[in-house]
Amino acid sequence: MAYDGRPMKVAVPKEIAARELRVALTPDAAGALVKDGLTVLVESGAGNGAFHADAAFEKVGARIVPDAASLCGEADVLLKVQKPTLDEVDRLRAGSVLVSFLSALTSPDLVERLAARRITSFGMEGIPRISRAQKMDALSSQANIAGYKAVLIAAESLAKFFPMMMTAAGTVFAARVLVIGAGVAGLQAIATARRLGAQVWGYDVRPAVKEQVESLGAKFLEFELGIASAEDKGGYAKPLSAEESRRQQEMLAEKTKDFDVVVTTALVPGRAAPRLVTKETVAGMRSGSVIVDLAAEAGGNCELTEPDEVVVRHGVTIHGPTNLPATMPVHASQLYARNVTELLRELVKDGALALDFDDEIVKGACVTHAGEVVSEAVKTAVAARKSV
Ligand code: NAI
Repeated sequence: MAYDGRPMKVAVPKEIAARELRVALTPDAAGALVKDGLTVLVESGAGNGAFHADAAFEKVGARIVPDAASLCGEADVLLKVQKPTLDEVDRLRAGSVLVSFLSALTSPDLVERLAARRITSFGMEGIPRISRAQKMDALSSQANIAGYKAVLIAAESLAKFFPMMMTAAGTVFAARVLVIGAGVAGLQAIATARRLGAQVWGYDVRPAVKEQVESLGAKFLEFELGIASAEDKGGYAKPLSAEESRRQQEMLAEKTKDFDVVVTTALVPGRAAPRLVTKETVAGMRSGSVIVDLAAEAGGNCELTEPDEVVVRHGVTIHGPTNLPATMPVHASQLYARNVTELLRELVKDGALALDFDDEIVKGACVTHAGEVVSEAVKTAVAARKSV
């Protein structure tokens, strides 16, 4: 493969965000790209957090570069996990390619800087959830980890067993777990809570997921909100009106009283997290109950959540972790590396970047190109934020 007559250089920097231990390529994934004919550069120490030493990258044919500035100076394509800081963007060569989570819908300054620096950027959050793109779907690969870990946190925090136990000293009943939002993270949370032996209920505003919840051995919590259709054309949840949201909060307040653990994962893409568990709902829960709010970063599904904190309110312990995938960096990096490698293979033809803007994957993920914001969704979101 050749890029302007030489092999295209794909570079992986060390992640600089606090507590971020993932790396965008593992040695296995780097080796696969080297086999494809690309040159792979890795910043020294980039894999340390995920237990991949520099030597493991060198063994598969990657070259170790001592610092981020030299790495970016050479890179044709930079692969990252966390959205870059503006300083990181300024280090990139004009005309180079960036593949990373960007949170583009909610990061207008970053998007403008990427365009101004003429970076061709791809936001992994924009990969459409279509069959052909499943192997590139990093939101799903990472949400799956978050759903699993959320339940382990809940089990650790709950002063009770999850499974039912019949012992000589008496019978202990299984913990009752409610998972609100049955998307990728929610379904994994349900499956994990079931594996630990809890009695599990799932709830989602989209009735279509009832079957999936039940297929995991959980029960589906149903109540009437009187909404004609809770789904948009893409199968995502639609935002609720203020009145529907109030009714939902009331119903959930009534139901959550019966649960030891509530895991919340409700999300409408590009919006603040829907508020599902109010402070009054928390006050109505049994003392000793546990809430794990996966939507903490987007404002929280629970009114009392504090991002990256554990707080106890009305006797209920509320966890607001914002980056659970980074707490499992080995598998999180393995899956993410596969996601970005597959996207790269889609974008590079005969050694050069070949962008087809009519392709659904490029249309969904490409944010900036040739000095312009090219994503319609991002353009609208950036304009809306500026007008506020
Ligand atoms: P998803 O889009 O697959 O699932 C979200 C679910 O919430 C959908 O099934 C949707 O129908 C449901 N929902 C939306 N509004 C609702 C409402 N008002 N009531 C009930 N259900 C509602 O999203 P995914 O990938 O499962 O992510 C879930 C959440 O986890 C997101 O907030 C995401 O940002 C977060 N996340 C958190 C991580 C962490 O470390 N804290 C890591 C990865 C994801």
